[in-house]
Amino acid sequence: MSNANLRAHLITFGCQMNEYDTHLVQSELASLGAEFVDTIQDANFVLVNTCAVRGKPVEKVKSLLGKLRKEKERRPLLVGMMGCVAQLEEGQEIAKKFDVDILLGPGAITQIAKALESHDKFWDLTFRDEVNTYVPPPPKGTLSAFVSIIRGCNHHCTYCIVPKTRGPEVSRHPDLILEEIERLKAAGVLEVTLLGQNVNSYGKDQPGYPSFAELLRMVGQIGIPRIKFTTSHPVNFTDDIIQAIAETPQVCRYIHLPVQSGSNRVLRRMGREYRREWYLDRVRAIKEALPDVVLSTDIIVGFPGETEADFEETLTLYDEVGYDHAYMFIYSPRPGTPSARHFQDLPREVKVARLQRLIEKQKEWSYRKNKRWEGRVVEVLVRGTAKEDGYAEGHDRGNHPVLVPAAQAPEPGLYQVEIKQATPHLLYGEVVGSTAPTTIPLTVM
Ligand code: SAH
Ligand code: SF4
Ligand code: F3S
Repeated sequence: MSNANLRAHLITFGCQMNEYDTHLVQSELASLGAEFVDTIQDANFVLVNTCAVRGKPVEKVKSLLGKLRKEKERRPLLVGMMGCVAQLEEGQEIAKKFDVDILLGPGAITQIAKALESHDKFWDLTFRDEVNTYVPPPPKGTLSAFVSIIRGCNHHCTYCIVPKTRGPEVSRHPDLILEEIERLKAAGVLEVTLLGQNVNSYGKDQPGYPSFAELLRMVGQIGIPRIKFTTSHPVNFTDDIIQAIAETPQVCRYIHLPVQSGSNRVLRRMGREYRREWYLDRVRAIKEALPDVVLSTDIIVGFPGETEADFEETLTLYDEVGYDHAYMFIYSPRPGTPSARHFQDLPREVKVARLQRLIEKQKEWSYRKNKRWEGRVVEVLVRGTAKEDGYAEGHDRGNHPVLVPAAQAPEPGLYQVEIKQATPHLLYGEVVGSTAPTTIPLTVM
């Protein structure tokens, strides 16, 4: 197919890393002259970026590819699959079954141009350095952007497919990261989220690279008003990182620190390298250095062998930390992972009932935590109109969703907002002023 006639439709499942990768591929396609369309019907090339972390997203990909195969029977259509499912044997079988034309693993996405030139099926599952050296142009029309700083994961959590799909840790050269952020700044971006499966390990795999703490300080110097990062691993969340956050005002006091379970027995079976006491000590150190910190976490309920007593330890840990927010998942056995191979899955009713109890706990805490912001003034990055009529939506430095009357925030940007009312899910406020990014000191010692 000639690229000039390419009408591409991109569909993304999964995490922020996948969103970033889709943007990367989209930039490459744009440079080839592709046009982007909003529906499958209007497209002659559909590219699906896939997620393998739980059973559900894989099922969704299969049903989408089924639909695309039918479409292919009716008209010329090129189908591509990239991302985490593509990398797995399971994914390659899916690709064969659904007649997928282009298959690119997460480390091979820069091969998209070559894939489109090929007159045959094109499969590439190798990790290529280009995926880390490519500097995509700033995404259009957004004030908030992602920047990949490290790919892959060196941990071996027994339930997790990610090390298999994304391979070992490979840090990106700091010059490229800084260059990308400079470009985002020049394009008017106000918030950057540094991405990786485990950002805290940044630099360890490459001699001479800065540590994550040092990188945070370097990125702070650029002067983008808001810097966030995700995901952190409790084992690698060292004191120097906490100190760098405390001393770099651009870095938001928001930390996502997945705990997975509060029971040491379960943590051990999960292959998480820390124990409850270690985790709680990290939280203590964080709270001490960053008094207003907003904390969120990931929790898996119903890991094989999790007893009622184990689960209750997760509940008590939740109370001890007092999370602002949590992402909660029912354990999903992933083919080929150690926990799926060696352990018996718990009955679904048990898992669902525990999830319900945990959700109750989360709502209670989120409400309590959100209430604390009532009457305070926070900086909100307004993105645009909200689903709720008459409101504009945005988020504050702690990642809370915030709604303000649309008339008070006619343009996207940073506003000072007084929080009037909190719910378990979001904050309602009134604009008390708009802020130029300069309210934050732009040069730090
Ligand atoms: N590297 C990140 C993100 C991993 S995937 C991290 O370690 O935090 C995001 C979350 O999905 C994980 O934190 C975990 O809570 C959840 N998850 C991973 N594998 C899972 C599985 N097999 N079943 C249920 N949840 C899972
Ligand atoms: Fe998966 Fe664990 Fe790595 Fe996170 S740290 S990506 S949960 S193996
Ligand atoms: Fe999913 Fe891969 Fe991200 S498995 S969560 S898309 S790293």
